[in-house]
Amino acid sequence: MQLDVTALTPGFCAEIDGVDISKPIAPEVRKEIRDAFDAYSVLVFHDQPMDDDTQVAFSRYFGSAEIGGGANPAVGTPFSRQSNLDIKTGEIIPSDDRRMHYQKGNMLWHMDSSFKADSSLCSILTAREVPPEGGNTEFASTRLAYESLTEDEKEKLEVLEVDHDIRFSRGLTGYKYDEAAGKGFITARHKLVRTNPGNGRKSLLIGVHAMAIVGWDEGESRALLDDLAARAENVIYSHKWRNDDVVVWDNQAAVHRATPFDNTRYRRLMQRTTIALEGAWPAMD
Ligand code: OGA
Ligand code: MN
Repeated sequence: MQLDVTALTPGFCAEIDGVDISKPIAPEVRKEIRDAFDAYSVLVFHDQPMDDDTQVAFSRYFGSAEIGGGANPAVGTPFSRQSNLDIKTGEIIPSDDRRMHYQKGNMLWHMDSSFKADSSLCSILTAREVPPEGGNTEFASTRLAYESLTEDEKEKLEVLEVDHDIRFSRGLTGYKYDEAAGKGFITARHKLVRTNPGNGRKSLLIGVHAMAIVGWDEGESRALLDDLAARAENVIYSHKWRNDDVVVWDNQAAVHRATPFDNTRYRRLMQRTTIALEGAWPAMD
């Protein structure tokens, strides 16, 4: 073992030391990173100064990055920015600006890109500039939520499918996609229970974009989704960012959310790459 893997809560989230991820990584170390990812769902790396090029290179080990979307998107690049800074001027965006509305949605538990037909294996978020206080990112385990169910409950869930839709989830915070902006969005249908191919452990594909259980009436559907979401919140890790942190999270086994900071006073800039599930873990040698 080359890596030092330290669990941050029992069985969920781990700090990884002993590798410089801004440089090419040997296949056996990549394998250790993958095993830790499969085991802990969220990996925290400290003191890893990244720029866009090194982030793209690191991201390739996980699969192919989605192109431009999300918050304040850098259109046509593989990045989503989580930031209160104007992409052109670098100045703080006024808090009543439309672009800041996205942040509200981000504060609800979610899995990135679960509203896409090809959902996401993982996201990689690099801290370029962090506020001195606030702005933690919180993670909750939908794998431990699944594993807390009884065998009967697990069996019942096994056959279910869920419709995920970002028009639904953004509607919850009062954001309406106009016709043009809504174009291209679909309702994505995924199995509720997901099996990790690396270790066979199961998790729930839920979060704020999960709109309805297919074939169930609205009330029952909402009740089940809310109950599963509440179970996930039993195990939470709150990440306090330092500059040059890199966090990789599993979008199939964990939900996450942003938390507030004084965005009129402090600057925050994080760059996210989002890896598609399709074509994940490419062989590279
Ligand atoms: C994300 C996200 C939360 C944050 O990058 O997908 O939800 O705290 N970020 O910026
Ligand atoms: Mn997110």
